[in-house]
Amino acid sequence: MVKVLFVCLGNICRSPMAEAVFRAKVKQANLADKIFVDSAGTGSWHVGEAPHYGTQEILNKYNIDYEGIKARQVIAKDVETFDYIIAMDTDNLRDIQAIAKGRKTGEVKRLLDYLPDSKRKDVPDPYYTGNFAEVYELVDQSCTYLLQHICEREGFPLN
Ligand code: 4NP
Repeated sequence: MVKVLFVCLGNICRSPMAEAVFRAKVKQANLADKIFVDSAGTGSWHVGEAPHYGTQEILNKYNIDYEGIKARQVIAKDVETFDYIIAMDTDNLRDIQAIAKGRKTGEVKRLLDYLPDSKRKDVPDPYYTGNFAEVYELVDQSCTYLLQHICEREGFPLN
């Protein structure tokens, strides 16, 4: 099983959105038995909470299932357990790298590193901008490329 972890700050806006969107793409590609998807936050403020209302609203709009998604904080073991750790922005990336120091890790990158020709590297935080639609577009596009990348690297079929 290949394990993918999306990481943001609070684990209520961006990374649970990415978890739900990516899981839907994995399911669509019939790879649910090969790819495990999870998300976590570098901060602990919202542990145990369901996704933010704005994230729920946009996922409902696109009929994407997010049942059971609850916020949790990144733990040191995550960097060893997960094969792909996908940060939503550069701050999250640095925080993960700090946790990972000295440990063997999988691939640790920002989500927008997978989006070809993207000038922006950080998914803007809708907790502050309020723009969940913009985040959805970035997450949806990038997750398509991320799945392609993982399938190529792991030798999984992608139709
Ligand atoms: P997220 O957004 O990292 O996309 O989940 C945030 C959610 C909560 C906070 C910051 C960012 N907060 O400071 O509580």
